Amino acid sequence: MYAILAQSKNGVIGRDGKLPWNIPEDMLFFQRTTKHNIVIMGRKTYESLCSAAPLKNRINIVLSNSPRPAAAAADIYWANTVEEVFEITRNFPNIKQFIIGGATIYKLFENYIDYYYITFVDKEYSGDCYAPMVPPCGGEAAHTEWNKNKIIDFYSKKENCSVSIVLFWRSSCASAAAPAALAT
Ligand SMILES: NC(=O)c1ccc[n+]([C@@H]2O[C@H](COP(=O)([O-])OP(=O)(O)OC[C@H]3O[C@@H](n4cnc5c(N)ncnc54)[C@H](OP(=O)(O)O)[C@@H]3O)[C@@H](O)[C@H]2O)c1
Repeated sequence: MYAILAQSKNGVIGRDGKLPWNIPEDMLFFQRTTKHNIVIMGRKTYESLCSAAPLKNRINIVLSNSPRPAAAAADIYWANTVEEVFEITRNFPNIKQFIIGGATIYKLFENYIDYYYITFVDKEYSGDCYAPMVPPCGGEAAHTEWNKNKIIDFYSKKENCSVSIVLFWRSSCASAAAPAALAT
């Protein structure tokens, strides 16, 4: 299972239900990387990202403790438990599964995630939602059981800071094919 996230220098991933930054190059990377795959998200991320319409060309799964809202699009899968998420993904055996957030969902699936695409935004932001403080996202002895491969470094003109996208994979797993380079 894969996870994809963007985090600031101080570990922030969200503020007021949204991303605290605007980095179109990273959004493009997110779209290219998750396209044609399964995306699994918490209800709050669903509301911030795609309550109007599911993410296109992806199988969308939302995790919530509540029943499916009447307004949810027909082609969004709604799950109430982690097991229900896996019941859905079992129907798509050859499709990659991406945990796309937010914080509670990264934490919930932590033990299943073998690959992380992490966008490091080299700037501090205020926020109310943080990346999990476990490797490879954070923590001191972070990267011992994780291999890494830098995908791209670029400068975000909109945010006025450097950005680096890195793929991590567990030492016990084969490396993944990185998606095509970004057009920045
Ligand atoms: N920087 C990034 O890469 C990135 C990526 C994604 C999101 N974000 C940001 O992260 C923030 C949202 O993250 P969040 O952690 O607050 O919320 P979230 O993980 O998106 O959603 C939390 C919700 O998921 C459901 N849920 C969680 N655990 C569950 C379980 N065990 N069983 C059933 N349902 C469960 C609950 O929904 P119910 O309340 O409906 O029960 C819970 O309120 C936003 O600011 C967003 O912009 C950032």
